[in-house]
Amino acid sequence: MFWNKISGVYDFVENIFNGKVNKEITLYVASLTDDNDDVLECACGTGMFSLPIARRCRSLIATDFAVGMLAQAQKKCRHQPNVIFKKADITSLGYADESFDKVVAANVIHLLDDPRKALDEIWRVCRRGGVIIIPTYINKSSKSASLAAKVFNMLGAGFKREFDEESYHEFFKQMGYAVSEYHTADGRMPCCAAIIRKMK
Ligand SMILES: C[S@@+](CC[C@H](N)C(=O)[O-])C[C@H]1O[C@@H](n2cnc3c(N)ncnc32)[C@H](O)[C@@H]1O
Repeated sequence: MFWNKISGVYDFVENIFNGKVNKEITLYVASLTDDNDDVLECACGTGMFSLPIARRCRSLIATDFAVGMLAQAQKKCRHQPNVIFKKADITSLGYADESFDKVVAANVIHLLDDPRKALDEIWRVCRRGGVIIIPTYINKSSKSASLAAKVFNMLGAGFKREFDEESYHEFFKQMGYAVSEYHTADGRMPCCAAIIRKMK
């Protein structure tokens, strides 16, 4: 699988190409959690978001379907006793309804055949009063971002859709989810986080 094959170089490429954006967006997402929160992260990859989140929350279950990516994430978070890693598909999470205060799914929604299934699953496991955070690279926003996405895709990333800011907003409307706010980290490959609140 593509993600297992590239797991050893993913961070290196991400840091060189998009370090500034990644630092800003991961710290922003982490800032939305606190020490009362039990957090689920879907598609955690190498743990770029997992570590800053784990440093703030009560507990984190970080999941991905690629064991190579999970192994990298586990290494990165080895000093965080409040994190556990599990293999899980975002479209079939296997947790009870309303189990988590915050659910994060970063840079994965554009890769899925059936994003609605993933959104419905994330919604199901989020508690009432909880928050769903979905940051995604807005790679149609500039020529360099489009080119980088093309290269990633040629290597086998398998993007199912690409967004600019406007089409990202439209995507959630079409899926039937009301986003309460968006936060974008600008840079080479901007990343836009959609924040969805599940009311009590
Ligand atoms: C671009 S990486 C993003 C990783 C991490 N969230 C980040 O932002 O650095 C995409 C990740 O999504 C995972 N992934 C793709 N489809 C998935 C699925 N259906 N269920 C769980 N993980 C999935 C891949 O294994 C990979 O680790």
